[in-house]
Amino acid sequence: MSGRIPRQFIDDLLVRVDIVDIIDSHVPLKKTGSNYTARCPFHNEKSPSFNVNRNKQFYHCFGCSAGGNVISFLMDFNHLSFVEAIEELATVAGVEIPYENQTNFEPEAKNKLLDLQQLMAKVATFYVDQLKHHPQKKIAVDYLKGRGINGVIARDFMIGYAPDGWQILSPHFNTELLCEAGMLIFKNEQYYDRFRQRIMFPIRNKRGHVIGFGGRVLDDTQQPKYLNSPETPLFHKSNEVYGLYELLKKNPKPARILIVEGYMDVVTLAQFGIDYAVAALGTNLTTTQLQLLFRSVPEIILCFDGDRAGQEAAWKAMDAVFSVLNDNRQVRVLILPPTHDPDSLLREEGVEAFSQRIENAEMVSAYFFNHFTATLNLNSIEGRAKLAHQAKPYLLKLSDGFFKEMMLAKLQELSDFDVAPTLEKETAAAQMPRQNESQNVRYSLERRTLALLVQHPQLAEKLVANPIDWQLLDFSGIEIFKAIVQSICIERPATTAQLLEHYREKPEEKMLKALAFLPILVPEEGVEAEFTGALTRLLTQAKQTRLEKLQIQATTRDLTDQEKEILRDLSR
Ligand code: UTP
Ligand code: MN
Repeated sequence: MSGRIPRQFIDDLLVRVDIVDIIDSHVPLKKTGSNYTARCPFHNEKSPSFNVNRNKQFYHCFGCSAGGNVISFLMDFNHLSFVEAIEELATVAGVEIPYENQTNFEPEAKNKLLDLQQLMAKVATFYVDQLKHHPQKKIAVDYLKGRGINGVIARDFMIGYAPDGWQILSPHFNTELLCEAGMLIFKNEQYYDRFRQRIMFPIRNKRGHVIGFGGRVLDDTQQPKYLNSPETPLFHKSNEVYGLYELLKKNPKPARILIVEGYMDVVTLAQFGIDYAVAALGTNLTTTQLQLLFRSVPEIILCFDGDRAGQEAAWKAMDAVFSVLNDNRQVRVLILPPTHDPDSLLREEGVEAFSQRIENAEMVSAYFFNHFTATLNLNSIEGRAKLAHQAKPYLLKLSDGFFKEMMLAKLQELSDFDVAPTLEKETAAAQMPRQNESQNVRYSLERRTLALLVQHPQLAEKLVANPIDWQLLDFSGIEIFKAIVQSICIERPATTAQLLEHYREKPEEKMLKALAFLPILVPEEGVEAEFTGALTRLLTQAKQTRLEKLQIQATTRDLTDQEKEILRDLSR
């Protein structure tokens, strides 16, 4: 075993990270009321019963009963061990794990991600050095000059040169780590460099760590033109964009972000002063990428090349776009003239004209409906039915709000048909069973009281101020109730998630998880009164039960002195 991770560190970590952000980057969430929901990643389902609650820092699926805090989520979703999940969270939070007994620490238990991060940083610097000092550097430097890239921008983006050769990296770095970082390929019992004779674009995550590379050939007859790092423990292509770190470094609070297709586009745009562009690493745009960007800006402009592939990619992006749009976010779409990409167009027509295009980019609402009106005959019922049929799945993805309402109104206008009732039916059908369930089931007073406390551990203050005299009480399950209440009063967890962490793999864990998501249906402002009321009723009932039991016992045997005293107290 590795050194133990101190419990205090885990508690702090749970406060530092936000379960909504973390789950959202794996499973895009939609805000519904006070919860965030999605279709459950742990079982197959049509309508979302997977709930994440920010206050409790806890998730729960009403369908399959999966549930837990952010550590449990990472363990189950990414198939990680407990320690690996903590390591991942620590990386997200940017903190180092203070392992206990560092001395009897086994080498393999060391934080692998940190090693990989350090390696990638060194490799990026190595490639930059090659561009400056390698005997064959001229060919790379000339290529960049030929593409109009200046030294300042090459430095800002840490552009480097991977020299021609099969064993360039291995003499300088640990082979095993290089391999895990995706920098080497193992073939015919041999390791050799993945990137050879290429211009290297390091891909940095939001916090500036090099997590992967894109490498471009120097000679356009070579294939493939771009080579990207494979998926590694550090690099998940569909979760990252190229250029975000560089962008935020120049301007931590940009008004908008332009998403383009290529590495070169980002670099050239920045060189011309349009320093708010990122590239989507050659994949279809994902909701994770959009969420990542919307955390920094309210507006995103999607810029696609004018070729057929670009137009198709633009429409494909609508899947992800509609899943993340809401009333506070704006998306616009800019499709460039045929045969151009931002790099070539900018150099041809200049910054002014290109900036004007950005200013005039079409609103996603207009782009979306134009896509249909351009291809469907809306003078016919058939055409309008197709419109309603094809547009509906997109509108269903939108979160509730004015934007959704207005998009529906527009669809109604164009299709000359009120689509809202059919949509409502689908949404309502999806939510119906759950609402009935929670209203029909009556929870015992004990469970309800305990659930309130588990879901709002700050209520423990009430109990600390007015301690419960357990001797005077009796009800079924009192022992476990007492144990949980006492531990909450002593540990004073900040959130439900922390409380649950203290019970990981203990017998009470399952019960606590169930309590954590028991639907109580009390608005936040009513929680305290509800708890006080429930507790008072519970205590009154429990005293009555204890009293009756003692009275019955008194008829069959002599009570102990202590019992007599309790009986006196209770009869008062
Ligand atoms: P482009 O071919 O449009 O790239 O591909 P570009 O940036 O305009 O290239 P040049 O340097 O100006 O000729 C767009 C993006 O698609 C991915 C890369 O991320 C590239 O930036 N791509 C392209 C690949 O991954 N592999 C390829 O072979 C080509
Ligand atoms: Mn290009």
